[in-house]
Amino acid sequence: MIQVENLNLNLRKTLSKGQVAISQPAGCPDINLWLFNPKVLEGPLSHDEAQAVVAEPAYWSFCWASGQVLAKYILSHPEIVKDKVVVDVGSGSGIVAIAAALAGAKVTYACDIDEDALDAVTMNAQENKVKVQTVKSLDEVSEEIDLITAADVLYDRDNFSLLTRFTESAPQVLLADSRIKTLPVDHYELQTTIEARTWPDLNEFEEFNQVRIYLSAL
Ligand SMILES: C[S@@+](CC[C@H](N)C(=O)[O-])C[C@H]1O[C@@H](n2cnc3c(N)ncnc32)[C@H](O)[C@@H]1O
Repeated sequence: MIQVENLNLNLRKTLSKGQVAISQPAGCPDINLWLFNPKVLEGPLSHDEAQAVVAEPAYWSFCWASGQVLAKYILSHPEIVKDKVVVDVGSGSGIVAIAAALAGAKVTYACDIDEDALDAVTMNAQENKVKVQTVKSLDEVSEEIDLITAADVLYDRDNFSLLTRFTESAPQVLLADSRIKTLPVDHYELQTTIEARTWPDLNEFEEFNQVRIYLSAL
């Protein structure tokens, strides 16, 4: 069973004082998440630690703007996921997968290439009293997928190819992104743009606080 101490140990791979604390992201306060506790930064970071955090951030220990917006969107429109098999790719803390499970998805998977993220998803799903299965790759999902969700996975340009992979793997894709102003493909339609900030707040440039939600075009 995953416990808070496992998440702390995972965080300390890059930040020796790293510690998680439970909080409710401002953009989706209905979901409780174990996330990075910013209070531990009250003292100075060593140069090596600052470099390590920037070079290889523990993405799962923050809730990104798009995750909050997409989770809230799903909670406000439960019909999007109701009775469906949903796979959330690049799940991080698991906020979108947890929202899908809370909103009535039949089965919910959280997929992330980072095993530490899958620990966080397991812990956060327990915290919100929902069942979320974890996988490292879409290939591990053997049942038919009804809906793929993904929030803030396009920060890595290598992931642009996922946009087509998603539409080949599921009849519907719901994507949220705060990094790319114009998608590099044309088979997604912009639904809405909503403002949010990474939680805990990383004080990013304002341009990264505009989250665009897209639905795959039929
Ligand atoms: C910026 S975080 C977003 C996390 C979460 N969706 C949110 O909005 O809070 C991106 C996450 O995607 C994961 N990731 C990146 N590339 C991936 C890929 N090709 N397949 C699955 N997960 C990926 C990272 O490990 C990380 O946890």
